[in-house]
Amino acid sequence: MTGHEPFVDIHCHLLPGLDDGASSLDDALAMAAMAVADGVGTIIATPHQLGKNAGNSGQSIRAAAERLQRELDRRRLPLKVLPGADVRIEPDLPGKICRGEVVTLADRRRHVLLELPHDVYLPLDRLLADLSSGGVVGILSHPERNVGILNQPKVLPPLIERGCLLQITAGSLTGVFGARIQRFAESLVADGLVHFVASDAHSVGNRSPILSAAFRRVAGLAGDEAARELCCRNPAHVAAGRPVPSGRRSAGQPRRLGGFRRVFALEASKVGTI
Ligand SMILES: [Fe+2]
Repeated sequence: MTGHEPFVDIHCHLLPGLDDGASSLDDALAMAAMAVADGVGTIIATPHQLGKNAGNSGQSIRAAAERLQRELDRRRLPLKVLPGADVRIEPDLPGKICRGEVVTLADRRRHVLLELPHDVYLPLDRLLADLSSGGVVGILSHPERNVGILNQPKVLPPLIERGCLLQITAGSLTGVFGARIQRFAESLVADGLVHFVASDAHSVGNRSPILSAAFRRVAGLAGDEAARELCCRNPAHVAAGRPVPSGRRSAGQPRRLGGFRRVFALEASKVGTI
């Protein structure tokens, strides 16, 4: 693996005191330092919004991101923090985005990070169409950890055909959430169905802001170019408000063919291929 651009993390619970992520400024600074040491240059801070976190207003998130950026600058920690949200799907989401109540990624009204309930899959066709008519693209966060999708993975390709983008969690690829989720995440990457890898970090502990291990895993599964695309380039497009190539990525060049591919085929058959 040769060098790569800085990582850009589009899903990270970095802002202190807004949700179940960083609970204090010190926590947030420790997470930021860990991310910088791992090669992360930009984090889109995504506290939960709507659902149980209805108290997180757009205004409070934007202000918290600015406050944290000032603290990072004061300490000369070279990290850019942009506002965003991990948004629970609710009625009138497009209206809430339009009115600025829900924060899109990097606050650019181009991409919104969508969070499904953990246990079920809800059809997203109507929501994606409504968002699209307002010029907003939905990014579905960690589909590999949704029980409904794990049991019915064939729902994903039609979503991608409709322009939905998929973000998987870095820890899923390194086994943090167990073997079944790891195998599913690997199969999605190998099949070209993933557009982003993000940390979904909540602390410096088990769910930390480390992306390098997942980057290496993607390179092993789909090639170095795919790793750069999922961990650096596509997320950088989001941070800049630029469009991200949608649809299925054509097969990359995995670094380890043969043995791994055979294992993958066996494992994929256990979780159900898509
Ligand atoms: Fe999250």
